[in-house]
Amino acid sequence: MKPFKTIILAAGEGSRMKSKKPKVLHKIFNEPMINYVIKAATECGSEKLCVVIGHKAEEVQQAIAQKDITFALQKQQLGTGHAVMQAMDFLEEDKNILILYGDTPLITVESLKELISFHEVENNDVSIVSAIVEDPTGYGHIIRDEQGNFLKNIEHKDASESEKTVQEINTGIYYFKGSALKEALVKLTNDNVQGEYYLPDTLSILLQSGYRVNALVTKDASAYFGVNTTVQLAQATAILQKRINQKHMENGVMILSPETTWIDPSVKIAADTIIYPNTIIEGNTSIGEDCTIGPNARLTHMMIGNDVHLQSSTAIHSSIGNHVTVGPFAYIRPDCHIADNVKIGDFVEVKNSTVGKGTKIPHLTYIGDTDAGEKINFGCGTITVNYDGSTKHRTVVEDNVFVGCNANLVAPVTIHKGSYIAAGSTITKDVPEDVLAVARARQQVINGWVKKH
Ligand code: UD1
Ligand code: CA
Repeated sequence: MKPFKTIILAAGEGSRMKSKKPKVLHKIFNEPMINYVIKAATECGSEKLCVVIGHKAEEVQQAIAQKDITFALQKQQLGTGHAVMQAMDFLEEDKNILILYGDTPLITVESLKELISFHEVENNDVSIVSAIVEDPTGYGHIIRDEQGNFLKNIEHKDASESEKTVQEINTGIYYFKGSALKEALVKLTNDNVQGEYYLPDTLSILLQSGYRVNALVTKDASAYFGVNTTVQLAQATAILQKRINQKHMENGVMILSPETTWIDPSVKIAADTIIYPNTIIEGNTSIGEDCTIGPNARLTHMMIGNDVHLQSSTAIHSSIGNHVTVGPFAYIRPDCHIADNVKIGDFVEVKNSTVGKGTKIPHLTYIGDTDAGEKINFGCGTITVNYDGSTKHRTVVEDNVFVGCNANLVAPVTIHKGSYIAAGSTITKDVPEDVLAVARARQQVINGWVKKH
């Protein structure tokens, strides 16, 4: 494969989205669309990338995750051809140029490679990808001669009634010889219904000058899906969702309801894990084998070991070891480290805490800013009282402690090894090892009281 550079067009407003946000920043699985396009070009081996920005340029520039990108500014959006003209300094005569639109987030490395090899095998000067679609409204139509040779692209708005019915459309992906692109850009005009400089017009310009121009008809039109409206954004998300879920299922993950399971592209899941319906798994999450996740779970940036069973719960930015159960209705907030063989039951919230091996927090409990050791039993309704109104304090609970039901542990406080906390206690002072701490009013019995009243 010859070295090539990439230009990505992202200057347009995307008015059909009816949103104040620039189109290419609308997200699919928590990631702006433009970043998918950049990633595909980079993974395909593009030497350098230039993104053409214009509408809300700064905002777009800031949302781009990848470093070492060249930006070209298109002050006024006078068309896709005009956008490429703004990157003239980026072009090199003897390098190939891949051009992508920032609003086609489903593009794959395979589809880009297919175009590049088509270009090389056919010895073209410019190659594009076309697709046969059910409804070609709004796209550029590909017009061919009787022998099937490429003649031109005609935009829908400029097309005659018969051209409008042509179902072969321009997907908006181009591979040019740098010298040919430079030559064509100079000759581009805006003599059309929209008064814009159309990039696809470079194709007929080059053809007329004797260059080889060809369109590869793709078998996988979904890879080139362009997002112009919020409806199409949802459609693109659904296509990517299918792709991702399928990949996991092929790897041995059971997904019981792929339609209601949303897994970010970056998530890793090992074989023999079962995902129940209505589950969302986001960010840099990894899940080990033999787990059951869901129904109704939301995991964000979680590291989860093997044989973990988490249902109807939310867990964020934390780690969970092996053989752990969580939920139903638990909330694991950021910076928790849950060790092996822990049980976190219903209506339990854990935040910024470590929970040691074999510890049980079965029900209705808040563990915040706590270092909890191994084999602790937290009774129903335990509360670590971590906030005094201005500052957060830590609670330390050492190994083998038994906390009775409905106890308040008022931080900063340490419960040393092996001690018991009586039910209903409010503990405000450190508790030494192997004692019973009782911190509640004694029960009184008043004889004859009922009869008197
Ligand atoms: C374009 C193609 C059409 C193709 C379709 C595929 C042209 C003239 N038409 O139409 O043949 O079938 O894509 O999806 O190219 N942009 C700029 N500056 C501009 C105008 C656009 O950077 O001045 C960017 C936009 O931000 C967007 C991309 O170029 O990312 C495509 O622009 P858009 O207006 O969506 O083109 P379409 O009308 O979809
Ligand atoms: Ca478009």
